[in-house]
Amino acid sequence: MVKICCIGAGYVGGPTMAVIALKCPAIEVAVVDISVARIMAWNSDQLPIYEPGLDEVVKQCRGKNLFFSTDVEKHVSGADIVFVSVNTPTKTRGLGAGKAADLTYWESAARMIADVSKSDKIVVEKSTVPVKTAEAIEKILTHNSKGINYQILSNPEFLAEGTAIQDLFNPDRVLIGGRETPEGQKAIQALKDVYAHWVPEESILCTNLWSAELSKLAANAFLAQRISSVNAMSALCESTGADVSQVSHAIGKDSRIGPKFLNASVGFGGSCFQKDILNLVYICECNGLSEVASYWKQVIKVNDYQKNRFVNRVVSSMFNTVSGKKIAILGFAFKKDTGDTRETPAIDVCKGLITDNARLSIYDPQVNQEQIQRDLSMNKFDWDHPIHLQPLSPTAVKRVSVVWDAYEATKDAHGICILTEWDEFKTLDYKRIYDNMQKPAFVFDGRNVVNVEKLREIGFIVYSIGKPLDPWLKDMPAVA
Ligand code: UDX
Ligand code: ADP
Repeated sequence: MVKICCIGAGYVGGPTMAVIALKCPAIEVAVVDISVARIMAWNSDQLPIYEPGLDEVVKQCRGKNLFFSTDVEKHVSGADIVFVSVNTPTKTRGLGAGKAADLTYWESAARMIADVSKSDKIVVEKSTVPVKTAEAIEKILTHNSKGINYQILSNPEFLAEGTAIQDLFNPDRVLIGGRETPEGQKAIQALKDVYAHWVPEESILCTNLWSAELSKLAANAFLAQRISSVNAMSALCESTGADVSQVSHAIGKDSRIGPKFLNASVGFGGSCFQKDILNLVYICECNGLSEVASYWKQVIKVNDYQKNRFVNRVVSSMFNTVSGKKIAILGFAFKKDTGDTRETPAIDVCKGLITDNARLSIYDPQVNQEQIQRDLSMNKFDWDHPIHLQPLSPTAVKRVSVVWDAYEATKDAHGICILTEWDEFKTLDYKRIYDNMQKPAFVFDGRNVVNVEKLREIGFIVYSIGKPLDPWLKDMPAVA
């Protein structure tokens, strides 16, 4: 029986291994992590991550051919294929600070594999890592090999949170990069055989190691670039009276452009986009490609501009001051259908409003108070370390309360900011909300989810990203 072990039971490792176990009943899959709490949660009815469809998959295989354990060394030592899916934060100090990936956790995982292995292994890079990481890992393993043969593969993950299970069931493609030697090709074939249980052969692409590693960074950079492009357009739409949704629809009809990833928003978030682009920028700079580096850096700059612009709209609309005013924040996760808050635009928007002395009442259907307080008090990039290495008990951010209901959050508020596109925000009773708010009552829709006309009829002053401006907002400049 083939044995797979995955180091790191996070957003990538957990769902990916659960689907491999489901689709390959003859393979034994162990997911291991140093976090006892995380493993306990994977073994309970309350999984550590919220992902539609994941519960059912885990329930079907857990205890049969899918196991979650903290006994990292035992499972690594017994595995034929070891996936590594550990944290890869952005460095906060030293060489490459603010850009380069911190490979501390990767390196310690590689050294541990070398320490405990007694048989040949295929080691698969699953975390997002900079190009040429595989080569570095290969060096650590071969210099500590004790006669054991290691083959390193890069098998980047393309799942998106909120649709992870569907993405894993029907991937656009599976990418496997490996060495162009006979042993490398054999390892590629072994991993291909795993995916071939459910992925059509023509969708499994095999490349050299560096192409696979770079493709992951490039794919995320291209996706993020589409969002920054449409967000840049949204600012121009607001100035000219065009409607960004109409513009997106029109350009998306061009089959060369396509309709996806053209929704203007308050900004993109998530654990990958910013981190991967920073990595790409760093790699370009290291290779002397400063023009290429600044081209990609601009994608992040426009994202920051969009978040600032949103905060400025809120403040300038409300007579240039939000001091002491209650503002309801609807949605904190970086997108709908996930409880993940990593790099969510809500963090920067909330921090901006707090700087201007607003009182915030935050509601998200999947994010709890502890997480929100932690996010608002953490330093940039601290989020991407294992939880036991993050600041212990951050001091609670004053002027922020977290509630479990949109009506509670909006009661007596002066304004509402919609920061995540949760479906339930489309169907709230906005008349009831309006009646319970201070007047004039404002809605700032950072995700274009509300029906602007209906809300204006109720009496709200509405700002919706990239839409023709409410007459109220026209004379209030809000350029960041
Ligand atoms: C992304 C990639 O899509 C995935 O392939 C990769 O493996 C990991 O990174 P993820 O971060 O989970 O996935 O979510 P994604 O759906 O890409 O959304 C990222 C951010 O962009 C979210 O904040 C989302 O709200 C925002 N977004 C997305 C927009 O603002 N507009 C869009 O049109 C699409
Ligand atoms: P991703 O979104 O890439 O899955 P996460 O941060 O959700 O990232 O998951 C990474 C996981 O890796 C964390 O649960 C962390 O505890 C775990 N981890 C980090 N280093 C090690 C290690 N050396 N051995 C086992 N698990 C590790």
